[in-house]
Amino acid sequence: MLHVILAEAEIELIPPELWNARGIVSYAKKRGKPPGKCLLDSNLHHSTMRDLPQQERRGRPDIAHITLLYLLGSVANHEGMLRVYVHTRNDEVIYVKPETRLPRNYNRFVGLIEKLYQVEEDLFLMMRKLTVEDLVREIKPSRTLLMDEGGTLVSPGGLADRMRDNLCVVIGAFPHGGYNKSYDFADERISLYEKPLETWTIASKITCLYEYTVLRKLLGNG
Ligand SMILES: C[S@@+](CC[C@H](N)C(=O)[O-])C[C@H]1O[C@@H](n2cnc3c(N)ncnc32)[C@H](O)[C@@H]1O
Repeated sequence: MLHVILAEAEIELIPPELWNARGIVSYAKKRGKPPGKCLLDSNLHHSTMRDLPQQERRGRPDIAHITLLYLLGSVANHEGMLRVYVHTRNDEVIYVKPETRLPRNYNRFVGLIEKLYQVEEDLFLMMRKLTVEDLVREIKPSRTLLMDEGGTLVSPGGLADRMRDNLCVVIGAFPHGGYNKSYDFADERISLYEKPLETWTIASKITCLYEYTVLRKLLGNG
């Protein structure tokens, strides 16, 4: 099994300090819900986010959406050998069942996550309050790799050598800067390129290598 944690995903409900901002009030009215039940989206709420701490990285559910679409469509997932978890900036973890048919449409994805904040569980997704460290403790992986462009630079062959069953890989699901926490519990911090790449690009490299190393052997094709 390969476990992928999308860490510090910029998914959050609109925070109380923005509830009375003009743009937010009209947005919430259009959506037919109170502001506190709508996801923050920098694409739509950019001007009202000016005074929020870390505003340059917040309100980016699209990063988790694109990466989830990729991961759930991967061979590893089709073979039932992938588990995906989305950890948010406020330490909520969304457990994603492998058979989840995620909406391709971004607005529908937003609606699904907003619903999860109310009901905590649906057929395919479950949300719990949890840190990445506690999630890794729960998973009990054979090894944990933290993806970080500032980590040890590793070639594709070097990454292939690190592939094993029950591996856990942590990838940041935020657009700018570094992790907010230290994640010292990880066994290694790995860089795959000297410059920052997109979250879904890293996810694709990891899953491809896992499929061509561990999965092939497990399926008897290697
Ligand atoms: C878009 S990056 C985060 C922002 C990036 N630090 C920046 O300042 O542009 C998202 C995540 O992808 C992973 N990542 C990006 N580039 C990487 C690289 N060259 N090597 C390994 N992981 C990388 C890391 O987990 C990172 O947190």
